[in-house]
Amino acid sequence: MNVPLADLHAQYLTMKPEIDLAIKSVIDSSQFILGKSVADFEGAFAAAHGARHCIAVGSGTDALHVSLWALGIGRGDAVITTPFTFIATTEAISLCGGQPLFVDIDPRTFTMSPEKLGELLSGKNIKIGKGLTVKGVIPVHLYGQAAAMDELLEITKTYQVEIIEDACQAHLATYDGKYVGSFGATACFSFYPGKNLGAYGEAGAVITNDDALALKMRRLRDHGQVEKYKHDFWGHNYRMDGIQGAVLGVKLRNLSQWTARRRSIAATYKKLLSGVGDIVLPHESPKAHHVYHLFVVRTKRRSALQQFLSGKQIATSIAYPIPLHFQQAYRHLGYRKGDFPVSETVADECLSLPVYPEMTDEQVEYVVSSIREFFRD
Ligand SMILES: Cc1ncc(COP(=O)(O)O)c(C=O)c1O
Repeated sequence: MNVPLADLHAQYLTMKPEIDLAIKSVIDSSQFILGKSVADFEGAFAAAHGARHCIAVGSGTDALHVSLWALGIGRGDAVITTPFTFIATTEAISLCGGQPLFVDIDPRTFTMSPEKLGELLSGKNIKIGKGLTVKGVIPVHLYGQAAAMDELLEITKTYQVEIIEDACQAHLATYDGKYVGSFGATACFSFYPGKNLGAYGEAGAVITNDDALALKMRRLRDHGQVEKYKHDFWGHNYRMDGIQGAVLGVKLRNLSQWTARRRSIAATYKKLLSGVGDIVLPHESPKAHHVYHLFVVRTKRRSALQQFLSGKQIATSIAYPIPLHFQQAYRHLGYRKGDFPVSETVADECLSLPVYPEMTDEQVEYVVSSIREFFRD
């Protein structure tokens, strides 16, 4: 048996007639950039998250960048996030001319530790970032689980800094019964093909309930145009392709059902892998509705387990093997080994097991029995 990390072709076959028709209608209309398919998708995606606005852009990275840009982040400003995320989170800060500051993650949920955020914002023990003004915090809803938004919001309100949610892995995730995007000034999504909602190329979106911010981001996305060839400020070209809007519109209709299947696979893994070897299973906060973009376990025998599973044709991956403070790109910030011990340990031990809606029960059982076999020997 072969178990990939995702099976996008199998997914396509489940909705081929609708996808083919949606793509053809964009080609027939020649609305290759933005246009009706993108506008329709924006409306549907905003509604799915109970948000007032959705601005479709070219990628999750664009979504983060345009959010920070619209919020006026610039030189001399710092934005706080965790070092245990994809580099796009901090690239958005750097692209605005700001500086990322890191706080460690919670060891159980892998999302930003409210306690560590409080310590950093209180200014005690600050070694890095002196002289900068903290303007924003980017909690990352990592692997599909929302960060502890109630506690984080309480802290950011005290210090009057904006929250920008990195929801690139967390479509339809909730916290305290509210969708991601209900907490920050904006929430940013990626539709990279392998995401829970994936396009057939690059795509992303921002949602917000702030009318003025929405208008600003809509203009920044399109060269700062207020009307054709009239630019009150400069922006960028962050427009979504018509074909991506059409594909996403079709796929969005299946997202709740796909999410339910991901959660059911996660539940089976949790039941059958409990107590196996030294495996630490993902913890779901009682307030969070995890959408399991990734099902990530921890083990001290990661490399041997990964090799063993690969020999059984089971794909796994590591997100992320090198925390951002160890990356050459951010060496200049001056962080050292030991500054974020939880991120550093999790980076050494995390392993993503296959989880995707088209995965069969037999494939799930095969992954479980293979892991059990590894730890028996
Ligand atoms: C947490 C996180 N942030 C940002 C991004 C960037 O999204 P994109 O690849 O669509 O630019 C991703 C996607 O890989 C992500 O996982």
